Amino acid sequence: MLVTGVGGFVGSHVADHCLALGMEVVGIDDFSGGSAENVPRGVEMVIGDLRDASLVRSLWDRGPFNCIYHLAAYAAESLSHYIRRFNYENNLLASVNLLNEAVRHETELFVFVSSSAVYGQGTEPLTEQVLPRPFDPYGIAKYAFEMDLQAAHALFGIEYVIWRPHNIYGERQNIADHYRNVVGIFMNQGLRGEPMTVVGDGFQSRAFSHVDDVAPWIARSPLTPAARNQIFNIGAETSHTVLELAERVAAALGTPCRIRHLPARPEPSHLMVDHAKFRRIFGASEAVGLDEGIRKMAEWARGQKHRPTARFEGIEILRNLPDHWRPAR
Ligand SMILES: NC(=O)c1ccc[n+]([C@@H]2O[C@H](COP(=O)([O-])OP(=O)(O)OC[C@H]3O[C@@H](n4cnc5c(N)ncnc54)[C@H](O)[C@@H]3O)[C@@H](O)[C@H]2O)c1
Repeated sequence: MLVTGVGGFVGSHVADHCLALGMEVVGIDDFSGGSAENVPRGVEMVIGDLRDASLVRSLWDRGPFNCIYHLAAYAAESLSHYIRRFNYENNLLASVNLLNEAVRHETELFVFVSSSAVYGQGTEPLTEQVLPRPFDPYGIAKYAFEMDLQAAHALFGIEYVIWRPHNIYGERQNIADHYRNVVGIFMNQGLRGEPMTVVGDGFQSRAFSHVDDVAPWIARSPLTPAARNQIFNIGAETSHTVLELAERVAAALGTPCRIRHLPARPEPSHLMVDHAKFRRIFGASEAVGLDEGIRKMAEWARGQKHRPTARFEGIEILRNLPDHWRPAR
């Protein structure tokens, strides 16, 4: 098996589960977002950038791979408006490099971790039948590659499983990331004794999904014949407002819940994703509630080195960029 983004948050958990299922795992990551510490012991590691087509080709020296799990991406959804070229090179063209080789080498199954961002400002509840209308470059790149993968399936017969997770949080998440995700940002701010920055009024709601409710099922993709050539939403069922989330994070860290509001940005106020298809085919039910998940993550985060908040170098468009994302002068 090949796992891309194996040094990242979700990819490292997927690799853990693949190893536990007895699979041999080759992993690749350029550590632009993840780190070597995340890579599970037992993974044969390649450090490199998937935008480099010749490097991707050379991965097959360690193959063949029956299955590819593709998780590498730069997933800062809201920032993607301002880093359009980078977004498409990293999230779309790099994926195409991988698919080209998978087709050439007759890889049996391509597991693609897409995102519920493909739905855009969709009406709820979002089932897999809803026509995606992504509204930011990140969601557009994910949807474009979903379609490219389906086109490759139609012509070359390569099989696929496409996952559309949402709002994943948990241990090994990069909590120093300045641009995502809200749980990690709150946890980092809480640990540093800073107020939690809430975008808008904080009454927008999301279902936050613990990684243990997502990664084991992605790993099982090749073992579930009914999942072949299907798309699945995956994640938690119960929604919470962002303000509720801030309170839960503060409670888990044992710190006062101080809030600083930032200007609102265009985003759906509520998002309700339907997981009935996933639960039917995989026989899965939600295992980790928000309180338990936040407690587990807080326990892990307390033991982490204090990492500085990382900023993205190379913003392409400064126009309308939120002030708190502006590069320091
Ligand atoms: N975390 C979420 O809430 C969430 C929700 C929906 C979808 N996803 C998708 O899940 C996948 C994993 O996300 P994550 O949260 O673990 O992010 P992450 O940043 O922790 O992991 C992504 C990994 O990919 C690596 N990477 C990025 N570009 C690369 C490149 N060009 N070459 C090689 N490696 C590269 C990064 O270094 C990082 O380790 C992504 O595809 C993301 O779009 C995540």
